[in-house]
Amino acid sequence: MKVFVINGPNLNLLGTREPEIYGYDTLDSIAERCQELGAKEGLEIEFMQSNYEGQVVEWIQKAINTVDAIVINAAAYTHTSVAIHDALRAFKGYKVELHISNPHLRESFRHISYVSPVVNAVVAGLGVNGYEDVIEMLPCVLNRESGSSAA
Ligand code: DQA
Repeated sequence: MKVFVINGPNLNLLGTREPEIYGYDTLDSIAERCQELGAKEGLEIEFMQSNYEGQVVEWIQKAINTVDAIVINAAAYTHTSVAIHDALRAFKGYKVELHISNPHLRESFRHISYVSPVVNAVVAGLGVNGYEDVIEMLPCVLNRESGSSAA
């Protein structure tokens, strides 16, 4: 099974960006751990990051009919992007919205998500370990959900 892990703006700065919120791990080290874990779980993980909304939309479109699941941390675009919302609607595989922090415990502008209404599951507030936690649960969920999709 193939999985895209898509990361939005500023997540390339993990390790140095607000470590009290996001921790000290770099995105590269998270990607490496996800790929190792994915290989053990029989998942082919493609891990990507972009600061550009259109690039995120293109990756979601690329996933249509080629990928079984998308794990997306749309970062700040979570709270603004109708384009990412629409692209996710078009992807009929399994979708997980992921956040390192819990946006609901933060500023009110982070309480709105354009991603949540179009995904199967939301994982937030587990720190960077959330990435591995999602990869670990995916084979089980994909087997259970095979054939079904979110709105
Ligand atoms: C984030 C939360 C967002 O509000 C923020 O803009 C991010 C990261 C998280 O992973 O906790 O860049 O998605």
